[in-house]
Amino acid sequence: MTKKLRIGVLVSGRGSNLQAVIDNIGNGSLAAEIAVVISDQPDAFALERSRQHNIPAVHISAKGYRGRREEYDALLVQELRKHSVDLVILAGFMRIISKVLVQAYPHRMMNIHPALLPSFPGLHVQKAAIEHGVKFSGCTVHFVDEGMDTGPVIIQAVVPVLDSDTEDVLASRILKQEHKLFSRAIQLFAEGRLKVVGRRVLVDGGRTETDEFLINP
Ligand code: GRF
Repeated sequence: MTKKLRIGVLVSGRGSNLQAVIDNIGNGSLAAEIAVVISDQPDAFALERSRQHNIPAVHISAKGYRGRREEYDALLVQELRKHSVDLVILAGFMRIISKVLVQAYPHRMMNIHPALLPSFPGLHVQKAAIEHGVKFSGCTVHFVDEGMDTGPVIIQAVVPVLDSDTEDVLASRILKQEHKLFSRAIQLFAEGRLKVVGRRVLVDGGRTETDEFLINP
């Protein structure tokens, strides 16, 4: 049997994406294991979810690290290494990360973002999409580089933006797709099927028009 991919998950909040990964590992659609969940917030519900599933859950406080982002990130790297993590996923981790973390996991760290990058990077992006008047939005899983939401796109899912949408309604339509998309990207990584060529991430074997993750109306 080949060794299972060991994932380290960085979180700050409710952890619904973490839960989806836990569930997809549980139902056999994702061949990986979560080695550790790390939060910068002591009361993140994501930590509670981890404990319920006997996953090591660690709080690393960022107090006292204002303006010392690299030193804080070195603590994260130390903890991730302690758990022999192969792939880091940012699942609602609300900190800007430094090159210390990025360079420790080059093309081995993924983020999920609730918009179709490069449109709408940053925060409050569902509201921004509605106010801008776009007719479609969605979510993106990308490799993390040193910019904010700028790394190579791995996969995206599309949802419509309806005239009646509020920020919450659109956010929950997108979130439903996030819960499938993140695991899909991790599975492709686990199978060694992702190849980064410049800014492009190619899926070995090629993507086809019938791939179920292309469009999700
Ligand atoms: C998600 O919308 C994700 O795209 C963004 O932060 C949110 C995290 O939600 N990066 P959750 O903690 O996974 O429920």
